[in-house]
Amino acid sequence: MNVNGIDYRTVWMEGTSVFFIEQNLLPFQFSIQEAKTYHESCHAIRTMMVRGAGAIGAIAGFAMAQAACEAPVNDFSTFLQNARTEIESTRPTARNLFYAVEKVYAAALVSPAAAVSTAQKVADRDASDSRMIGEFGNELIRNGMNIETHCNAGWLAFVDYGTALSPVYLAHLQGKKIFVYADETRPRSQGARLTAWELKQAGVPHTIIPDNAGAWLMSLGKIDMMIVGADRIAANGDTANKIGTLEKAIAAKEYGIPFYVAAPTSTFDLDCADGTHIPIEERSEDEVLYMDGIAKDGRHERILVCSPGSHAFNPAFDVTPAKLITGIITEKGIIKPEKETISLRLT
Ligand code: MRU
Repeated sequence: MNVNGIDYRTVWMEGTSVFFIEQNLLPFQFSIQEAKTYHESCHAIRTMMVRGAGAIGAIAGFAMAQAACEAPVNDFSTFLQNARTEIESTRPTARNLFYAVEKVYAAALVSPAAAVSTAQKVADRDASDSRMIGEFGNELIRNGMNIETHCNAGWLAFVDYGTALSPVYLAHLQGKKIFVYADETRPRSQGARLTAWELKQAGVPHTIIPDNAGAWLMSLGKIDMMIVGADRIAANGDTANKIGTLEKAIAAKEYGIPFYVAAPTSTFDLDCADGTHIPIEERSEDEVLYMDGIAKDGRHERILVCSPGSHAFNPAFDVTPAKLITGIITEKGIIKPEKETISLRLT
C-alpha cells in the first residue's frame, strides 16, 4: 500500500531481521521498527505493534523463521519447540498465527533457509489472497452504497490490501461512489485510528461513528451492507472477530442488511467444530480504563477515562453465529457459512 509515495507492506523480513509498521503510533506517527530476534517479534505481536489477523500470521511465521536461524545446532529441536510455544502464546484467537507457525515450523525441521523461504511464501500468499478478496467482494458493491465496517480489516491488518476494506478500495478505484461508516471500535479504537487513517490515505469518503451508533443508522436505512474481517472461522461458519461484531450482526439481521465476513481460507479452523471451541483472548483492563492520544501541544498522552478504582472486563473478540452471516468473501470466491460448503471449498 502506498504511504507518502512509497509502497509498503505492513511486515517483511530482510536477512534475519523483521521490519514492520508500528501500529500503536498510528495515526499520529508513521514509523518502521525492526525486530532483530524472534523474542522481539513476539513482543511486537503481544503489544499489538503488529496486529490484525493476516499481519499477525505473517510476523508469527517470520518469528518462527528467526528462531530457526537463532537455534544452536546442538539444541536445535528443543530451542525450536520452545520458540513455537512462545510464539503461539502471544495472541490466542488469530487462526493465521497458528497456520503460519505450523507451516514454518515444519520447514525449519528441514533447514533454517527453508523456514525463511516458507515464511516469505506465507506472507506473499496473505497479500495475494487479500487482493483476490477485493476482486470477489467488489462484485457485491454497487454505485452509491453506504458500507459499515468494524475494527480494522484493512491493509494494516494484513500484509497488503486487507480483507473487509480490499473490496472497498477496488470499488473506489473503479470510480464507484461509495461511503464508509467506520465503527470506532473501543477499547483500542482500531476503527477510529487505523481504518479512518487508511481510508483517508486512499481518498475514500468516510466518517467515524461511535460503537453504539450502528443499529440506529441501520434502522434509519443509512447502511446498505456491512463487511467485517475475521480472526478465526469455525468449520460451521461461526466467526470470531473484534468484540462488538456480534451486536452489529444481530442489528443487521433485524433490519435486513447483508452482513458479510471477508477472510482468506487460512483463517478457517476446521478443527473447531463451531464457535464455542474458539479461544477468546482476554486483554488487560487498562485498555478499557485508559485512552491515549495526542494533546493540543503535540505531546502523546495517556489518560484515565473511567471511574478511579473500578475494574474492567476486556474480552478482545466475540463470536457471530453463522446464521447471522450472509456470506464469507474468500480468495476462492464468496461462500455460504455452512459446514458442507466450507469443507467442500477448503479441500
Ligand atoms: O486485536 P486486533 O486488532 O489484532 O484485532 C484483529 C482485528 O483486526 C479484527 O478483529 C479484524 O476485524 C479481523 S481481520 C484482521
